[in-house]
Amino acid sequence: MPATVVVGTQWGDEGKGRFVDLLAKETQMVVRYQGGHNAGHTIVVDGEKFALQLIPSGVLNDHIIPVIGNGVVVDPRVLISELDMLGSRGVDTSQVRVSGNAHLILPYHQEMDALIERYLGDNRLGTTKRGIGPAYADKALRAGLRVQDLMDPGAFRAKLEAALRDKNATLARVYNRLPLDADEIAHLYLEEYAPRLAPYVADTVTLIHEALEAGQHVLLEGAQATFLDLDHGTYPFVTSSNPTAGGACTGSGIGPRHITRVVGVAKAYATRVGAGPFPTELFDEAGDRIVEQGHEFGTNTGRRRRPGWLDLVMLRQAVRLNSCSELAIAKLDVLDGFETVRVCVAYDVDGRRTTSLPDLQGELGRADPIYEDLPGWTASVRRARERGDLPPAAVDYLAFVERYLGLPVRYVGVGPERDEYVVFNGGSAPLAVSPAGA
Ligand code: GDP
Ligand code: IMO
Ligand code: MG
Repeated sequence: MPATVVVGTQWGDEGKGRFVDLLAKETQMVVRYQGGHNAGHTIVVDGEKFALQLIPSGVLNDHIIPVIGNGVVVDPRVLISELDMLGSRGVDTSQVRVSGNAHLILPYHQEMDALIERYLGDNRLGTTKRGIGPAYADKALRAGLRVQDLMDPGAFRAKLEAALRDKNATLARVYNRLPLDADEIAHLYLEEYAPRLAPYVADTVTLIHEALEAGQHVLLEGAQATFLDLDHGTYPFVTSSNPTAGGACTGSGIGPRHITRVVGVAKAYATRVGAGPFPTELFDEAGDRIVEQGHEFGTNTGRRRRPGWLDLVMLRQAVRLNSCSELAIAKLDVLDGFETVRVCVAYDVDGRRTTSLPDLQGELGRADPIYEDLPGWTASVRRARERGDLPPAAVDYLAFVERYLGLPVRYVGVGPERDEYVVFNGGSAPLAVSPAGA
């Protein structure tokens, strides 16, 4: 009856999808617990690329029941097109289940997302404009519509009309936009989307608990990441849900005692899409090289990701916030050929050295990274399949991360393909060295 959480430890796009796909081998059910189609999780199988936004990354494994949990916000149009996309590529989606308690993204959410960003001007967050923030805001306001409302036309209509009274007033009077038509939205959601989604809607809390009670292993798949977390991220430059491991409980309906493993996923360096603080950000040739070698353009929006060195101060904070039991590190191959690989081991904040992540936004903004320079490697790691195949300098790099964090690096990605990974440390945690001395 154990559950495992897979959580991003940086700002997203760490490679969660590919490690969920890998861990799905040992699992019977994969549950997405938060976020929506702001996510883009990529899995590459025999050269064929699957980019998933809503359906859990376990779906490519026939034995998996993929579940969209109550904590997710669902745009039905996107879910239907994802089901169709997978179906047309020969993937069985008949086992997909979506919680009736998951909130719906409605057309006004997407419109408001874009308008709010436009009005913020230079202060914009750089959201994905998918309507995620406005949908979660309505959930918190208790003004949201849920997936189960699609199955109850009377309730859907009444809630939609109540919501539109408020939304249309805001759209017209604040943003000078045309009002949205209730009939048009009701037609789309009730006539087109509802019949398509009805077979997939389920009481997912019961489903998950029946699986746990039957001794099955459940994997909880996070979207976004620790530093995009609404509570623990670099607020306000965050998403509107809780990607951290605590969100896995509320977003799926299980208590923390079920969770026995928390796999924190990180890149061998760092990237961020959208605005917000990023202490180890690179603006030089090394950054361009990371973007080029790592193809660092968003799966979802195509935006160039901001590159930087691995930040162990942030990673240690992520390990704490999520109670990580182990790490999975992706994209080691992208560092091939760097003469020196830098890792941030502390910050200088106003002349003071610290290994703790500053709690105050202003201090984080002023934090200057203090680096440890480690020797790079010239040979490609791409063909490595076992720890012994890795160049010694790459092993030293990963061992340095393990020592700093006091956690095993369980898996290492050496290429995007499903089988391009190494089990780096199948054993127990190394002893942490004092971060100050690292
Ligand atoms: P997610 O959102 O955390 O699932 O990550 P994304 O799929 O958005 O971004 C990760 C990108 O890196 C995708 O294009 C993956 O195919 C790719 N990727 C994952 N692991 C590796 C790896 O070990 N090496 C390389 N070169 N690419 C990887
Ligand atoms: P995955 O699951 C990277 C970022 C956006 C923006 C901020 C808020 O693929 O790792 P939102 O649309 O959520 O209100 O945008 O969060 N963001 C992501 N960045 N990967 C993601 O998902 C992201 N989802 C949202 O770029 O800065
Ligand atoms: Mg992604």
